[in-house]
Amino acid sequence: MAQSQIYPILDGSLTGTKISGEHSISPSKVLSPLKIDYSYFLNETTKKRKPSELRELSKLAEKLPPGSIKLGVGVPNVQTFPFKGFEVELASGENIKLNQNELAAALQYLPSIGYTPLINKLKEIQEQYHGVQNWKIKSIMITSGAQEGLAKAVDMCMRQGDCVIMPDPTYTGAIDLFKLYDAEILGIKQDSRGVKVKDLENALLLRKNGNLKIPKLIYLNPTASNPCGNTISTYRKREIYRLACEYNFLILEDDPYYYLNFENKNPISFMSLDTEGRVLRFDSLSKIMSSGLRIGFVTGPSNLLRQMEYHMSTSSMHTSSLSQVLVYKLLSRWDNEGLISHFMRVKEFYKHKRDYMLQTVKKYLSDLAEWQDPCGGMFLWLKVIGLSDTRRLVTSRCLEKNVIFAPGYALAIDTKKPSPFIRISFSIASPSEVDLGISLLADAIREELQLS
Ligand SMILES: Cc1ncc(COP(=O)(O)O)c(C=O)c1O
Repeated sequence: MAQSQIYPILDGSLTGTKISGEHSISPSKVLSPLKIDYSYFLNETTKKRKPSELRELSKLAEKLPPGSIKLGVGVPNVQTFPFKGFEVELASGENIKLNQNELAAALQYLPSIGYTPLINKLKEIQEQYHGVQNWKIKSIMITSGAQEGLAKAVDMCMRQGDCVIMPDPTYTGAIDLFKLYDAEILGIKQDSRGVKVKDLENALLLRKNGNLKIPKLIYLNPTASNPCGNTISTYRKREIYRLACEYNFLILEDDPYYYLNFENKNPISFMSLDTEGRVLRFDSLSKIMSSGLRIGFVTGPSNLLRQMEYHMSTSSMHTSSLSQVLVYKLLSRWDNEGLISHFMRVKEFYKHKRDYMLQTVKKYLSDLAEWQDPCGGMFLWLKVIGLSDTRRLVTSRCLEKNVIFAPGYALAIDTKKPSPFIRISFSIASPSEVDLGISLLADAIREELQLS
């Protein structure tokens, strides 16, 4: 699905500093009638960020012809490192071995946006799932998980007391980032098809009519969300995108469960709907390859990613080189078909687990709770009937029975409010553990209902 994607630019770099080189994110050269002023979204700290002079110099050094004498590059000599080779065994029984050049890259500093061969592979994957992208004005930066990308995006935009929009409940790792800025969070209710767009529109209209601050960001976890297990419908995504254009906000599309969607069709992403350059999309390999490798990636307008790159260059400098090179090798080994069949395998694994969980909650909880079948991911969001708050049930009664759930209040924007919900994860428990755990939950609910 090809999209005509025309993004606006600021003329020149946001910081007024010119950068160049294949490893950095260059300012877009494409002009568009839709001129987003990205500086509107940036806070004061971000506006002060500049490329590091030395890092820029080392990018130039990389372009020198072979044999050039590198006396200005401040990196350690890989010959002194205690590693001679690197080989891993895959679950399939095959091996992956790094050659000398790959090993040198895996042990050395990398450009802040990431390992170029991996970025190129990820660009191919993004186009396959989200349509043709204009890489002259869009970029990818590799991050230590989606979480780092999110944190950098929040740090790029938020000012103290800014207003943001989020589904309620939602991923606590995102809520906590915004709370650091004392954000005024507009929590939007959800149903099985994601955030309720009418509620969102009304909330925005109220703010506009009341002359209140209009949010600059909406955070969404669109596929098989944590904790609700719902996927935002394409219709609602289009409506949210329309509101983003009308009210001028950016969409943070945090989508780590995209490849764990159990429905037949891949969801249409916000990124694939983005004609104005308003979407920062956060992908993650945590749920599909390894959470410990810490590989995520942000895709979005270069004008924004460049600011995140500057931040990266003064914080962790870059995501682990070893992880990046290893993932690149794996993706190269698999090719497209191998990758898709891996995705299918993982998806089937979790679907099976979801089905077993649903069968078990039906068996033990049909008269005690209600829920919607999760359409992907790892979570079942369950409402206990007749209980206004699950706090004591989860944090005391279930713990006494040696079974752990996540209480609903902990995933709400306002954690002080009572919540009748429980998040149950079906990712790691075995069938017998699910059976015992859910029957114990049923006992605990009955005991709790007698007291309340
Ligand atoms: C919605 C959501 N976003 C982001 C993350 C963080 O993922 P990563 O391991 O890629 O940092 C998680 C992890 O649980 C999550 O559920």
